[in-house]
Amino acid sequence: MAQKGSMLIDYSLEKSFELFEPGPVLLLTTKQGEKSNVMTLSWHALIDFTPIIAVVLSNGDYSFNTLRKTKECVLAIPNAELMQTAVSIGNCSGRETDKFATFNLTAAKSQRVKPPLIAEALYNVECAVIDVSLADRYGMFVLEGLKAWENEKIADRRTFHAHGNGIFTLDGEEINLKNLMTKWPQFV
Ligand SMILES: Cc1cc2nc3c(=O)[nH]c(=O)nc-3n(C[C@H](O)[C@H](O)[C@H](O)COP(=O)(O)O)c2cc1C
Repeated sequence: MAQKGSMLIDYSLEKSFELFEPGPVLLLTTKQGEKSNVMTLSWHALIDFTPIIAVVLSNGDYSFNTLRKTKECVLAIPNAELMQTAVSIGNCSGRETDKFATFNLTAAKSQRVKPPLIAEALYNVECAVIDVSLADRYGMFVLEGLKAWENEKIADRRTFHAHGNGIFTLDGEEINLKNLMTKWPQFV
């Protein structure tokens, strides 16, 4: 099914965990009342071969309290063309900035949660917070993906990766070593 008026189509929820494995910089959207917000996030980890993902948010982020309260977010995977935008999004706060308007992001309607999808991203995964037990101590939220979307019209499929302090790398050459992956034949 395609989103009306947008380029977003269904993407396999079962396969969506693989999108996070290379550690791309993410955009995390939240919504409280009528106010949508987005932050940049590079601290994330897969927990299993399922779309269960841990994210870490500083409690100084406006998004922290929104996520703690609403228990919903969208993880969007931006491509190389959005790299500068993502860095700028991560250098201002939803407390004083309408980031969707400021950065010309198209908020598309989610199916399972209230926070919006980002139509310009390669992929979006709608998520519910399923565990906040480490949120106060470590800022960690455990998320479960509920619905995944792809924008297959975006030509540049490269994602980017944060090395800290404003240094990034872009996806490079893909190397296929499936022949060495003998322990998990069911996944290869
Ligand atoms: C490349 C990049 C990666 C970031 N990763 C994280 C992260 O993983 N966790 C976090 O709490 N903040 C991270 N930030 C910082 C937040 O995006 C930033 O504090 C932002 O202003 C929070 O927005 P908010 O106040 O609207 O929630 C990152 C920033 C950049 C530029």
